[in-house]
Order: sequence, then C-alpha cells, then structure tokens
Amino acid sequence: MERWRSWQFALLSLATILPSSSKNVDSFSSDTLINNVVADPRSGRLYVGAVNHLYQLAPDLRIESRTETGPKRDNRQCTPPVTDACEEAVDTDNHNKLMLVQEGRDTLVVCGSVYRGICSLRNLSAVQQLLYFSDSKGREVVRGERRGERLRGWG
Ligand SMILES: *[C@@H]1O[C@H](CO)[C@@H](O)[C@H](O)[C@H]1NC(C)=O
Repeated sequence: MERWRSWQFALLSLATILPSSSKNVDSFSSDTLINNVVADPRSGRLYVGAVNHLYQLAPDLRIESRTETGPKRDNRQCTPPVTDACEEAVDTDNHNKLMLVQEGRDTLVVCGSVYRGICSLRNLSAVQQLLYFSDSKGREVVRGERRGERLRGWG
C-alpha cells in the first residue's frame, strides 16, 4: 500500500512538472530521415546526420548551423572523384553513415554513403564549414594552417 502511495505521488509530481518544463523545450524535426545523432558533452550541442542534411543544434534544439550534404552525382561503379567521365552517375541521396566528435581538435567527423563512403571534417562550432574533404586524393579542400596535423590518419 505504501508503495502505491509513493507511485501516485511520483506521477502527480511528474504531471505538474512536465507541462511547465516542456514549455521551454523546443522541438526539432528533420525533413529527411535521421540516420545518426551525436552529442558534444562539453557544449551540450547535438549533431544530427540525416539523409542529405546535417544539423548542429543548441541544447534547446535550436538550429545553429545546417548544411546540405546531397544529393550528389554518384555511381558505385565509378571511382571517386566522380566526373562527367562517369556516364552512369545519377543524383544520389547521401545517407549519414557515421559521425564522431573530436573534442581535442574541435572537429566533427562526418562520413556519408556517396563516393564509396568518403569522410569529411567539419567545424564543431559551425558544421557548414568544411575543414577537410578528399574524394580519393583527386580533389581536396583544406582550411586552416595545421594541414599536416589534420590530414594525419586520413590520407
Ligand atoms: C570554427 O568556427 C568558429 C565560429 O565560427 C571559428 O571561430 C573558428 O575559427 C572555426 N575554426 C576553424 C578551424 O576554422
């Protein structure tokens, strides 16, 4: 009997707490299917990897930064970089396959499904900022000065 009483009390407390606290909590919804979500425990930010989109959310789920990651002209038969020479290339949805917060480097590792699963490094506080991307050494985008350090393990 005593246990039931405490449960009732717990439920009552929840019912009174929830409506007031949920007022301040925004919601986030993605237009496309969400593949992965990772958090940065230091900032409380959330990173949402969805089909063709990448979102950076504040702890209250406000969108701080977003970027489009697809669709890309791609075909599995063609070795990246995919150029016009790849006649089979068609607009292909980019599914987010992996995301990883690199705290020490302030970067977010993002791997997609296009170009045979190539990964890129993005700015942890502004994910629209691409720091490093290589499609099989054919093309490279590198920002910042410590190029050698950033490339380690990715070349
Ligand atoms: C990442 O973005 C922040 C905020 O825009 C900026 O201050 C910082 O310099 C950027 N980091 C790199 C490595 O570009």
